[in-house]
Amino acid sequence: MMTGAVRWLFNCSAWNPSPSFFSFCLCLLPYSTQREVTRFVKFEDQKRSLVSRLMQHMLVHIFFKVPYKNIFILRTEEGKPYLEPCYLNESCPNLNFNVSHHGHYVALASETLCLVGLDVMVADADEHETPEEYIKNFRSCFTSLEWNNIISVGPDPNSLLDQFHRYWCLKESYIKAIGIGLGFDLQRAEFFFSDGNVWSDTACLRLGGIERTDWCFHLSHLNNGHWICVAKGPPADAVESFKQTLQVLDVDEATLTRALRGGNSFTELTIQDLIPHELGNPC
Ligand SMILES: CC(C)(COP(=O)(O)OP(=O)(O)OC[C@H]1O[C@@H](n2cnc3c(N)ncnc32)[C@H](O)[C@@H]1OP(=O)(O)O)[C@@H](O)C(=O)NCCC(=O)NCCS
Repeated sequence: MMTGAVRWLFNCSAWNPSPSFFSFCLCLLPYSTQREVTRFVKFEDQKRSLVSRLMQHMLVHIFFKVPYKNIFILRTEEGKPYLEPCYLNESCPNLNFNVSHHGHYVALASETLCLVGLDVMVADADEHETPEEYIKNFRSCFTSLEWNNIISVGPDPNSLLDQFHRYWCLKESYIKAIGIGLGFDLQRAEFFFSDGNVWSDTACLRLGGIERTDWCFHLSHLNNGHWICVAKGPPADAVESFKQTLQVLDVDEATLTRALRGGNSFTELTIQDLIPHELGNPC
């Protein structure tokens, strides 16, 4: 049995499979899951979707030794993936995970007790707008404090976009940890840096005006302007539909504090890492 936090990263832009190898990887998954991949028109989207599903299946395969074809990952009404309750047990009562894919990367984070949310962001090149014009479209997503922090980095376009994406990742990782999806009042969750350093790698949350020390957020810079944020928090904060997929909702403070510690570094995987070992090396 594997325990603890999992943090995986896969660089899709560096993976150029032949059509036959792509089909081989796709066929590892249950048929209904394959269709979730092939519904995308662009090959880049298919690649990200396939890697996302292979990661989710590998996680369950490693934890519970279940063959890929027998793993069915369910989704809440809001779309958050979860495991069938039969997989959960005392050593991992709340095994939950989250995936994000944007730009070059697909990433997965999982936790056995606390909630986990993940977001990857990179600038989508748009030659028609300056970074300043672009970020202004999203002004209403942020509180005044957040907006001031974003623009405090000055006019340098790269710094401005970096800071904007850091804040975007913070909001999304929280939304994805609790599983709410669309419809969250983004201004309710205000992020700030306790030491006043807007480039800090840890951020704090004020929810509805109240500081929440039972949540932690870790930001990292990947290469080529990609940012990644992992959010961790108490299971009882999940939306109703996701709460029903967990076994333990009330966690005492000391246990939660331990669960929130660490798990900040990602392991970069190769495609071989996402193929069950018993199938050998088909690459
Ligand atoms: C799914 C959602 C939560 C995130 O989508 P996104 O950022 O475009 O995409 P990401 O790549 O980060 O995440 C996609 C993954 O999230 C997971 N996901 C889907 N719905 C989810 C939900 N309700 N909660 C948590 N995770 C969810 C899935 O695993 C999905 O990947 P998969 O389909 O390959 O399995 C989307 O509903 C959303 O963006 N909601 C909030 C929008 C918003 O207001 N953002 C403003 C931030 S400032």
